[in-house]
Amino acid sequence: MSDGSDRGRVDGPAGQELWRRADAVLPGGAVYLSRSARFAGDDVQPGFIAEASGCRVTDVDGRRYIDFLCANGPILLGYRHPEVEEAVRRQAERADSASFFPPALVDLADLLVEKTPGMAWAVPAKNGSDVIGLAGRVARVATGRETLVVFDRAYHGFDPEFALSPAGVPAASVSKLVRVPWNDLDAFDRAMSSCQDDLAGFVLNPLDQFPLRDTAPPSPGLLDAISAMRERTGAVLVIDDVRAGLRLAEGPSHRALGIEPDLVCLGKSLGNGHPVSALLGTEALRAAARQINFTATYFFTAAALRGAERTLQVYHRDGAFHALWRAGERLREGLLAAAAKSGHRIRYTGPPSMPTLLFEDDAKLERGRRFSREAALRGAIFHPTLNWFLSAAHDDAAIDEAIGIAEAAFDATPVE
Ligand SMILES: Cc1ncc(COP(=O)(O)O)c(C=O)c1O
Repeated sequence: MSDGSDRGRVDGPAGQELWRRADAVLPGGAVYLSRSARFAGDDVQPGFIAEASGCRVTDVDGRRYIDFLCANGPILLGYRHPEVEEAVRRQAERADSASFFPPALVDLADLLVEKTPGMAWAVPAKNGSDVIGLAGRVARVATGRETLVVFDRAYHGFDPEFALSPAGVPAASVSKLVRVPWNDLDAFDRAMSSCQDDLAGFVLNPLDQFPLRDTAPPSPGLLDAISAMRERTGAVLVIDDVRAGLRLAEGPSHRALGIEPDLVCLGKSLGNGHPVSALLGTEALRAAARQINFTATYFFTAAALRGAERTLQVYHRDGAFHALWRAGERLREGLLAAAAKSGHRIRYTGPPSMPTLLFEDDAKLERGRRFSREAALRGAIFHPTLNWFLSAAHDDAAIDEAIGIAEAAFDATPVE
């Protein structure tokens, strides 16, 4: 572990040169949002990753980090998991893009249906946003109604209807979307009385996770209120499991929530870094799904589909969920102790597999950013505003090393 004192900026010369070029040829601003290291602030995280393996990444200046972002979710088993990479490579050597369906499409759909009780069909695609948009359409076709209820601040991807950034989105495209405050049952009831005759469905994240906010699960009252509305109106329940999927329960998150959805959107972790997402649905919604034209040139690339198939097989075979949950518990315990020892008051919320660390009374994010920067200088990536992700590759040695880095980073961060 470096003590950080030998480094000026987090990015070395190669990283700084890439930023200079990026600023000339990328639009910057909100375009890439959290996937730009600058989302964490200037000089807080390394800007450009050149290599990745297991739970570690190397930046373009050759500096190594234990990574707790996992590519913002996808890396479930560890970067470049050997069996997943082998499955992808073998498929790519035979065929990737081709004129008709690859067998891998059917194999993956089969496995998804087998591993998700209650779901009868699956539509693989690429990004989470693809399948969220599709889920909304299936709900509308199935019910013959148009209004979708989502929750304040909930991110559901780049589909203009669901986008959190309104720039360039015509007002008419969001006129059938109702946003309700999270866990506010009075507001929920009011929204229901105004839209229930036209209610097509709910799109629900298993967790409320938003930059700079504590992670909050749905309250039992909210889940009950949604169930009651489904019973009364036949509205469809879509679980957006793109972010939390496979990390809240062994399988899709609704197992942890104790609810039975009609549609489940998976993405991110599904391919362990290879581009695959999927919409899963019940038998009752098959006829609605069949009516929708949903295709794109690269939905059918066989190598990525094989990557997802192998990821799911390894995940279930190796009990990866339990491994990453335990790793998260070890990290939480160590970080809470380290913060207390150095006199910092922090809030550590969310499940161990997807925690959020925020400092108390840190509205300007001075301590949060300083801590993350000090950790990066010493070799660990902890985001100051977003939730983190654990993977099955975060073994005890890596977690203990990261706790040591965090101890030094807390000590180097002024207390008040
Ligand atoms: C809850 C949730 N839904 C949907 C999406 C969109 O997925 P993608 O970025 O793969 O399009 C994200 C992405 O972060 C997400 O967190």
